[in-house]
Amino acid sequence: MNQQTKKRTLVTSALPYVNNVPHLGNMVCIISADVYTRFLRSNKVDVISVIGTDEHGTTTETKALEEGLTPEQVCEKYFKIHKEIYEWFGNSFDCIGRTSSKENYEVTQDIFKKLNQNGFIKKQIVVQAYCTKCDKFLADRFVEGTCPKCGYKDARGDQCENCGALLNATELVDARCKICGTNPITKETEHLFIDLPKLAPLLEKWINEQSVKGRWSQNAKTMTDAWIRDGLRERCITRDLKWGIPVPYPDFEKKVFYSWFDAPIGYIGITKECREDWKEWWFGDDVRLVQFMGKDNIPFHTVLFPASLIGTKEDYVLLDRISSNEYINYEGGQFSKSRSLGVFGDDAIKTGIPADVWRYYIMVNRPEKADTDFSWEDFQSKINNELVANLGNFINRTISFINNYTDSKVPKAKLDEKDNAFLQEIRKEIKKATELLDDIQLKDALKSIMHISKLGNQYFQETQPWKSIKENKAKAETCLAVCANITKDLAVMIRPYMPETSNKIFNQLNIQEKNWDDLGKLSLEKHHKINKAEPLLNKLEDNDIKKFKKEFGGKRMQEKTDERKDPFAKLDLKVAKIISVEDHPDAEKLLVMKINIGDEERQIVGGIKKYYSKQELVGRNLIVVKNLKPIVLRGKESKGMLLAAMEKQGDEENVKLLSAKNSNPGDDVFIDGIDKQPKKHLGYSEFKEVEMRTDSEGHVIYDGKQLKTGKEQVNVEGVKEGALIR
Ligand code: MF3
Ligand code: ZN
Repeated sequence: MNQQTKKRTLVTSALPYVNNVPHLGNMVCIISADVYTRFLRSNKVDVISVIGTDEHGTTTETKALEEGLTPEQVCEKYFKIHKEIYEWFGNSFDCIGRTSSKENYEVTQDIFKKLNQNGFIKKQIVVQAYCTKCDKFLADRFVEGTCPKCGYKDARGDQCENCGALLNATELVDARCKICGTNPITKETEHLFIDLPKLAPLLEKWINEQSVKGRWSQNAKTMTDAWIRDGLRERCITRDLKWGIPVPYPDFEKKVFYSWFDAPIGYIGITKECREDWKEWWFGDDVRLVQFMGKDNIPFHTVLFPASLIGTKEDYVLLDRISSNEYINYEGGQFSKSRSLGVFGDDAIKTGIPADVWRYYIMVNRPEKADTDFSWEDFQSKINNELVANLGNFINRTISFINNYTDSKVPKAKLDEKDNAFLQEIRKEIKKATELLDDIQLKDALKSIMHISKLGNQYFQETQPWKSIKENKAKAETCLAVCANITKDLAVMIRPYMPETSNKIFNQLNIQEKNWDDLGKLSLEKHHKINKAEPLLNKLEDNDIKKFKKEFGGKRMQEKTDERKDPFAKLDLKVAKIISVEDHPDAEKLLVMKINIGDEERQIVGGIKKYYSKQELVGRNLIVVKNLKPIVLRGKESKGMLLAAMEKQGDEENVKLLSAKNSNPGDDVFIDGIDKQPKKHLGYSEFKEVEMRTDSEGHVIYDGKQLKTGKEQVNVEGVKEGALIR
């Protein structure tokens, strides 16, 4: 092993956002960090590994709104899921924690205070979108509107999904608040910035040296240079959100830190959360920090995080080696958290395919230098033709043979020239795999390990112990002894990648776990008694693969067909009976209602106080959009919306609710000929795409057909023909 890599090592894996179940793309980074850590452990390096969840920021607040939970509850729920999934995949992190821990609050605020004391924090005024109805500044992602570049109607305030343009919320045309739909105004607000230009001399000196010393990959250098070349600008590190780490600075009581400020600091916070000796790791002058991440995370780890640490003028350990992976695609498309496309951690568990098999495939398909593709066919082929046919077969035949021909006792090896030459070749390959692992080229190292098993198979095949055992016993016995020792070497070397399988091999060989220093040695003594062979790994059956493809590819297919579906199909309309009605305590125009929709009671908030008295409403059968994204209106949650017809009469609006008197709560409301495929959470703008109007008889028409229940047509009384349904 390289002298350098024998130092104490702190390994981190990028902290996935907590707002979703981690998918195979996240697992690439996590398993890579674990493989490397396990490799170091097997080399007796003093190492700890850190992972956890990135819990602050708009992504969590958005998820909370969607699920009708508080951000705390979202984090609580998903942190558990993340932890279980990391562990299910056989990862062995020393520290698993959360960026919202008390420890991370402490470390983040402390680092901020030091930066401020050292003059690296600046206050600046910025202009931002502000919703007067929600009474708050809106993060870019909380504003939607028309993209100024391409005209796409539902562009997000930070980026247009259609043309990819990076946007500021204030640039959107016809902007609306994502929470309540109101047009936001622009307003000035103060924010704190980290003064990167002032830190530049120190930072650039460090980057220039470290990128060479740490042998940063080309893409890490390129992306870092791009940030530096664009001029290191002041970067805003505060946000107008509720969910986050409070900013300890006068007049900033209502603001929190930008999540990219506290997330990398989270590595330190998590170490503090899990270990008393955290300072020895983060301030130790002999500690090497090795960080794993996806490539989009690079500049945060090579610029922003080191800058935050350097600016404290304390001796924090800074990044040494960076391992950034590209992306793994799903069946030719992208994994999408937001569209739940592809195989996610929990899906992988449900397939019943063992974690080691996933680990093997993910590592042998690791997107190291270019994107790679996950496809079920490729998965099946690599598992069956490489893992099972090569490695599984070699180990199984070696152990079975010793079971059957030498009474489960490892025979004595009498090496001839040919055996020695073969062993030399094996040792060369072991050295190669070790160097690759040492250099964090985990995919090539795995291929090199598989090559050893292939060489083993060839040697076994050429020596033909099943024949030679009768003709030339010594030759057969030597072959078995050599193969038993190579089996032991393979158990050591695949251990970082497939820990369970490695355990099984050690068990079958009936020896204690061996370490890297045992590689290449014929340490299995003669007469050592081994256990019975048992199959290590199973092939993936065609039928199962077909099933998985349908199940998980299905999500993607679904999405695709959805795009061509009638927009009405996304709606889930039901008959709702009003159970009770109250005034909204904090809003003049709103009513808070309890409704019954058959299998469920819900609360909804509606702006119909002007048009209906409470008595008129109670007991009526109305129509509700059941799958509308839940929203909170002045502190009251509303799950769904009542449909009403609206028409203008001069300056006044006339509003009448849609009803279905003779139907039952929970009855379906539909249009003949349109198959329902309701989305889980329908956006208000998606609802608005569905243009429904009234006809001359007070019925509701969509696309020339009447809206109805199984028992009757939906009715509206008292509006003229052509009133719009909203
Ligand atoms: N949550 C980020 C992502 O998934 C990664 C954060 S890495 C850390 O892209 F440095 F902030 F922890
Ligand atoms: Zn609003």
